[in-house]
This record gives sequence, structure tokens and C-alpha cells, in this order.
Amino acid sequence: MFPLRRNRRLRSNESIRSLVRETIITPNDFLVPLFVVEGKNIKEEIPSMPNYFRLSLDLLEKEVKELWNLGLKSVLLFVKVPDKLKDNKGTEAVNVNGLMQRAIKTVKNAVPDMLVMTDVALDPYSSYGHDGIVENGQILNDETSAVLAQMSVSHALAGANFVAPSDMMDGRILEIREALEDEGLINTGIMSYSAKYASAFYGPFRDALDSAPVNIKNVPKDKKTYQMDPANRFEALRETEMDIDEGADIVMVKPGLCYLDIVREIKNEVEVPVAVYQVSGEYAMLKAAAEKGWLDHDAVMMEQIIAIKRAGADIIASYFAKDVVKLL
Ligand code: PBG
Repeated sequence: MFPLRRNRRLRSNESIRSLVRETIITPNDFLVPLFVVEGKNIKEEIPSMPNYFRLSLDLLEKEVKELWNLGLKSVLLFVKVPDKLKDNKGTEAVNVNGLMQRAIKTVKNAVPDMLVMTDVALDPYSSYGHDGIVENGQILNDETSAVLAQMSVSHALAGANFVAPSDMMDGRILEIREALEDEGLINTGIMSYSAKYASAFYGPFRDALDSAPVNIKNVPKDKKTYQMDPANRFEALRETEMDIDEGADIVMVKPGLCYLDIVREIKNEVEVPVAVYQVSGEYAMLKAAAEKGWLDHDAVMMEQIIAIKRAGADIIASYFAKDVVKLL
């Protein structure tokens, strides 16, 4: 007797393995998150994100040219806002000469075909570190959505191709879509963070932007009243379907690795592209383990990226994008 099927035949050498490989990573898969700061010639390493930097506009220009030459054609912009410009209304978020608005123009001037997506939420601009306006211990939904719509219009006018609302207010996709249409910005897309969980993996990102919720009486210390409970699955489908109905062109699941079951489920249900955000904590975890010599950095990185794509990601937002592409 012999085994009826010998699956190992399809694994016996790299040529046959590459012939039957189901998931292939290319530079087209990636969206590159970038952190921008005020100043000149500034490249500050983020302590909890080794080898990832905050860049001033002049170095942002250099960076996007380098990304473009590596075949990376999409960026997702975040800005670190000085404390003195933060308030509880997102005033700086809608400043036409704000750092984000200038960053968009910088990228577009440097590499006109680079696809520019922008984060839309109030947290980097909020003196309380919340994605919305805070009042009496509550994060106000509708008042926040109105500011996010204005913010989206100002990003689009500065040249953003897509706005990416990451705030999880109810109804904001429709409000943003209407505001864009009213301004004639019909070609500006919306990538909605549709299934965004209240995750402990965002810590290093909040270090990067100095945007963590503050410890003040009557201000919630976490984002659990707007971001989703990690225990929930149906809620992710509901959020995603609602965002598509409201006008989202692309939906997103965030974080990545711990939520790949959700990615597959959404990918099976929806007919718009699905993005996955491999977040800062996922990046930090691997960097830390590799630094200790406990994990093989490049091998684990590639395995994680393949897993995200295999789960159903059409787009991967990842701090590893450049490292991955250099290895391909
Ligand atoms: C802002 C925002 C966050 C991230 C993306 N947009 C942080 C948060 O919601 O607290 C996290 C990204 C990461 O951890 O890499 N709303």
C-alpha cells in the first residue's frame, strides 16, 4: 500500500512551489503610512517603532520619491500637531494652511501620480486625545461628523485622492460624501475604517503622534464608546455594510493579524476592495522580538504579510511596506 495522494510532490522544490503558490506579494499591494512633523530637516525615530520616523516636509518629499522608485504608489498621511494648536473642536484640522494640507501639496508636487490618502479623525488635533469632540464625558457623534466632513473637503481641496475616516462616528461616511459632492469633489474617494476595533495595538502610533487620550476627570480614557469590541464579529459586518451603503469606495479592517477571521468574512460578503491595516503594535512586536534575536525579522514579516493577503486583503497598510518591497 502507498498513500493515495502524495501532497509533498507539490512541495518538493522551489520551482514547483512557486508554480502552485496561491498568494503573491507585489508593491501594488501596499499603502504606506507616513508621519509628518513641522520643521526642517527633521527625521525623528519613533521610540516604540524602531526604524520608523516622523518627517518634516522637506524630507517627506525625499521619502515619497524613494517610495515611488521602489514601486510604492500610495501613501496614507498622518500629522503630529503641536500642543498649542490642539483644542476640543478640531480648529486646526480644517486650517487650509495646516500641516496636513501642506503635506498633501508637498507629496503631490514631488510625485504627482502618488496616490494620497489622508487620515480623517480629530485625535491628533484634540487636546483630549479623542477622535471626536468631548462634552460631559461623551464623545459627540453628530457634531464630530460635521467637522470631519469639513476636514475631508479641506484635504480634497489640497489635492488628496482619498480621505480615510478612522474615527468610527456613526453616519460620517454619508456626511463626508455629501460634503464632497456639494463642493463638486466627485472624484475624491473614501476609504472607510469600517471595522476598527478598540485595540491595545495602537499604542506606538499614539506615541508617534502624541495623541493618546489624556488622563483628565470627565474624559474617557479609552475609545471603547466608538471603536469596536474585539469580541464582536457580526458588528464588523454591520459596520462595513453600512459604510458601503453610505458611499465608502474601500472598506478597512484594523488591526490586521488578530482580526484575519474578520477580514475573510468581510471579503466573502462585500464587493468593494478590502484594506487591512497592520498597525503600529504589530510592527513594534516583531521589531522587539527580532532585536532580542528571538524571531527572524524578514521571515516573520513576509509570513505576516502573506497571511494578511491570503485572508482577503486587497490593500495592505503596513509600516513594513518598504522593507518587504526591498526583499521581493
Ligand atoms: C486615529 C488613528 C489611529 C490609528 C490610525 N488612525 C489611532 C487610534 O485610533 O487611536 C492607529 C494606527 C496604528 O496603530 O498603526 N484615529
